[in-house]
Amino acid sequence: MSIEKLAKQVEGLTFEAIADKYPNCHPEINPFDLYRAHLANVLSGITGVDSSIIYPNLAWTLSLDKGDLTLAAPALRIKGKKPDQLAELAKEWAEMFPDNDPLVAKPIVVNYFLSFYIRGAPLIQSLIPAIRESGAEYGRNKYLGLKDPKDPSKGQKRIIVEFSSPNIAKPFHAGHLRSTIIGGFIANLYEGAGWDVVRINYLGDWGKQYGLLALAFEKYGDEEALKKDPINHLFQLYVRINSEMTAEKEDIEKRKAAGEDTTELEKNSLDEQARGYFKKMTDRDEAALAQWKRFRDLSITRYKDTYARLNIHFDDYSGESQVSEDEMDKIGKEMEEKGICKEDKGAMLVNFQELIPGKEGKRLEKPIVRKKDGTALYLTRDISELLNRHEKYHFDKMIYVVASAQDLHLKQLFKIIELLGHKDIADKCQHINFGLVLGMSTRKGTVKFLDDILKDVADKMHETMRKNDDKYSQVADPEATADTLGISSVMVQDMSGKRINNYTFNMDAMTSFEGDTGPYLQYAHARVSSIRRKAGLSDEEIASADLSLLIEPHAVNIVRLLAQWPDTVQNTLKTLEPTTVLTYLFKMTHALSSSYDQLQVVGSERELMKARMALYDAAHTVLGNGMRLIGLSPVER
Ligand code: ARG
Repeated sequence: MSIEKLAKQVEGLTFEAIADKYPNCHPEINPFDLYRAHLANVLSGITGVDSSIIYPNLAWTLSLDKGDLTLAAPALRIKGKKPDQLAELAKEWAEMFPDNDPLVAKPIVVNYFLSFYIRGAPLIQSLIPAIRESGAEYGRNKYLGLKDPKDPSKGQKRIIVEFSSPNIAKPFHAGHLRSTIIGGFIANLYEGAGWDVVRINYLGDWGKQYGLLALAFEKYGDEEALKKDPINHLFQLYVRINSEMTAEKEDIEKRKAAGEDTTELEKNSLDEQARGYFKKMTDRDEAALAQWKRFRDLSITRYKDTYARLNIHFDDYSGESQVSEDEMDKIGKEMEEKGICKEDKGAMLVNFQELIPGKEGKRLEKPIVRKKDGTALYLTRDISELLNRHEKYHFDKMIYVVASAQDLHLKQLFKIIELLGHKDIADKCQHINFGLVLGMSTRKGTVKFLDDILKDVADKMHETMRKNDDKYSQVADPEATADTLGISSVMVQDMSGKRINNYTFNMDAMTSFEGDTGPYLQYAHARVSSIRRKAGLSDEEIASADLSLLIEPHAVNIVRLLAQWPDTVQNTLKTLEPTTVLTYLFKMTHALSSSYDQLQVVGSERELMKARMALYDAAHTVLGNGMRLIGLSPVER
């Protein structure tokens, strides 16, 4: 417990005392918790304000030159003071701050803001060993997911993250790509925070179109092709039968217009046959179900391979097909009894406008939950599925990672659950939405499948790598590296902005080694790894380094950033924005790259070499932890 060394610098500052005093305070894993607690204690003595008010108001700064923590005097709610009086007060407080505080320098005052700068030496000497000890654990916080933080025996909270959710036999579009990337990240984030995470993929795998697909397979299916590449084969069949169906419909329309009797044609149309086939499926006809299950299973097997390349796995492949008709009937009746839905021209619909007065009701529109012919809809399935998941998993929280195009759908869903009398369950659900990807196409045309995107980006990456012969020859398996870098390119580009923003899929920009890109991040990681290889120091040598030799401002700044990592992760749990993590990682890589000339390892005197190596090793750990959190596989070369 190396961070404890820091606490020992201050009399009376113990982990136990502050953990009890401040909420969610875990100084043994988050150094900033210690600094906040210490500052709150000291400032309370100076200002007379209760430390519990000061603690949560010690805020982050945007960059290190603004300090490590800042406090705005108005946040302390001192009555009857105008802004200029508060600025005066801030100045007085700063003067009263002890010169010889062991952890933090005397604050700098700008207007009514106090900026605090952490002292370098004690932080360096405690944090570098702490990161060494924690390794992959540094940044994780198992307490946050406990049902009762004071009593771990009560167990973890459970969260369901539903994401990716593509549709079988249809293209894997940008919405699915983003859901996969963002969802994988959110699942990792909660896992790191000690939650029990269940990852669910809710496939689009039910409906009349799957009856049509089965017909297409009967007509043109090829066993070999299905086994070899189910996703592509099913897609091709689907495209083919759909165009046939469209042609047929047009033909019927034409004949009708010419006064011909088309009853017989319509009865035998593909559309009717598909309806019939799907009816067999809903009636649980064994042969029909078995065929459909084969399509589904083969597709899932293939999806799994692709997800594995993105370091993603699912605990459950659920899907629209898994929702039982009986249950939907039951809930339909319940909705009717409770006056939530009403008949309208033979269909059942939820008239939110009547149920909820005002703007909210209007905005929720009038979704149908049962068609005239008795079939259930996307929304109907979601209602049943949600309640089922609650039964099955007793979740404390559930997140749906779905494009913002479905904002209304999810609002309707949560509202219906609430109207059914399950406000408690609705309150546990959250929709995490995201914007569009514009112009997503590969060089071979529009994107159809995730594999195509990854393949194309990997090819492009390979080209870029080839441009540097010297470095290219050092990479052991260029194909595999190009693949990893390609995946990083796509993921980093996706996570660079706020989720809700649209972005343009730009193959050249994302695969560049310049700018804040995936390849640059990988390069930065590989570069710290290479220092370690070149230095040729043993673990013991690095562990026993004399860290008091690290006095340069560059070294101090790197460690100040390293100290922010656990807090960054904790903050990301509030924003659920991958960009919060990425921004941090790029700050880190920039600090590293500007330090290399100042803090040389190879070529320095032995003791200095060890100390600097220990610093870079800690940075390597944190970069790697961050990259893995967002779903990347850090490369060493
Ligand atoms: N398969 C759907 C689509 O492609 C996404 C599913 C989202 N999840 C849900 N529970 N409705 O649009």
